[in-house]
Amino acid sequence: MIKNIVCIGAGYVGSPTMAVIADKCSEFKVTVVDINEQRIAAWNSDKLPIYEPGLDDVVFRNRGKNLFYSTNIPDAIREADVIFISVNTPTKTFGTGAGRAADLQYLEKTARSIIEYADSDKIVVEKSTLPVRTAQAVSRVLNSNTKGLHFQIVSNPEFMAEGTAVNDLQKPDRVLIGGLETPEGRNAVETVAGIYRHWVPGERIITTNLWSSELTKLVSNALLAQRVSSINSISALCEKTEANVDEVARAAGFDSRIGSKFLKASIGFGGSCFKKDILNLVYLCGYYGLPEVASYWEQVVAMNDYQASRFVGNMLSAMFNTVADKKIAVLGFAFKADTGDTRESPAIAVSRMLLAERARVAIHDPKAMVNARHDLADVENDVLFCEDPYEAIKGAHAIALLTDWKSFRELDFKRVFEMMEKPAFIFDGRNYLDHDMLYKLGFNVYGIGRKPLTHF
Ligand SMILES: NC(=O)c1ccc[n+]([C@@H]2O[C@H](COP(=O)([O-])OP(=O)(O)OC[C@H]3O[C@@H](n4cnc5c(N)ncnc54)[C@H](O)[C@@H]3O)[C@@H](O)[C@H]2O)c1
Repeated sequence: MIKNIVCIGAGYVGSPTMAVIADKCSEFKVTVVDINEQRIAAWNSDKLPIYEPGLDDVVFRNRGKNLFYSTNIPDAIREADVIFISVNTPTKTFGTGAGRAADLQYLEKTARSIIEYADSDKIVVEKSTLPVRTAQAVSRVLNSNTKGLHFQIVSNPEFMAEGTAVNDLQKPDRVLIGGLETPEGRNAVETVAGIYRHWVPGERIITTNLWSSELTKLVSNALLAQRVSSINSISALCEKTEANVDEVARAAGFDSRIGSKFLKASIGFGGSCFKKDILNLVYLCGYYGLPEVASYWEQVVAMNDYQASRFVGNMLSAMFNTVADKKIAVLGFAFKADTGDTRESPAIAVSRMLLAERARVAIHDPKAMVNARHDLADVENDVLFCEDPYEAIKGAHAIALLTDWKSFRELDFKRVFEMMEKPAFIFDGRNYLDHDMLYKLGFNVYGIGRKPLTHF
């Protein structure tokens, strides 16, 4: 019987996941801990540190009842029956594997805190995304304790997507739980499955061995990113041939073997996971002596980088080969709509490329202004950060729409046109706006993978 669930790491994954567990399992006490005091203070305040539709409701109705946020890691570990580890696992920036391998220092520090403070056996659940075979290392660290304690390691990667995290957690396509194929391992898997069974139908709870579970998370992200890069590669060909990439994607996606999801051409994928997880897969393939497999997956990332630079290249050539001293309104900085997260957002690369061309960049995003300022801190004097979209647009030569926020469709484009320099350009990096309407208002409209609508 378990009573206390603890999650180490109060980030984009740990906190929403635990809020939903607390919401669905009133008999468990759920505590989320972090070394970041500011973050924990924000989780305990009226203004949560991340924007995620529906999250405020779930947190506010459970916080203080069976959901707690704390920096007291020792007490939380001591109390816990099950510990989820949801710390960050970024790409290594130094030493062996720099730029590809996962940096596991936060994970290992967490494992060491567990042995320092634990005084009873525990199930430790890897919620962070990790390279395949990491559980072996975690298990060795944990079970090297000198207190005679036993730790069972379970892999339970998270598949929620930012922007729809609460819904994804409440109605997951599947929950994946991997464990050792020993009686103790199977018991641990069963205990974790028992948590999810409170609200997830049994047929959606998949159990596998540890290594399949760890690898499935990397593979899932690689496959999703691969679809985006595949359709983006075709968008380049569409622009040369007057085929329309959205029509191609729609018609191809109607084939039930292909399916329609994740075939939306754009300036490229972002977010903290896709790039780092593919690079991690690439590193693993190299490590295991599979260079052909490594370079196959590496191309998914290369195509994504190409798409952002192609977008800026298209802007330049459309705007008479110079944007120097021209104001460009960047609408949207988050890596996707409905999140304030800007990690690996293509908007960062696009803004920097425009700045390198000496454009005057004015940025507006409904939820990501704080992160945008942080991402561009080294060039902040060259950038205008605008709380109001019309302030960014005023006097601009061009709009670059980089995130598909609903509020951008609701702009008064007649007013927008009047406020801009002429000829007025819109570069829609998400094929999100009504291009025909914009063209009729007088804009020159450039989408991705489709013929531009111009008045020249
Ligand atoms: N963000 C996503 O959409 C997503 C989706 C699925 C899986 N993941 C994976 O989940 C993991 C967490 O991602 P995230 O986006 O929540 O990261 P995050 O950076 O938002 O949160 C991680 C938290 O862990 C804390 N932390 C680090 N070391 C610690 C320690 N020793 N003790 C206590 N706290 C510590 C950090 O302070 C931070 O608040 C990563 O492995 C990521 O790949 C992320």
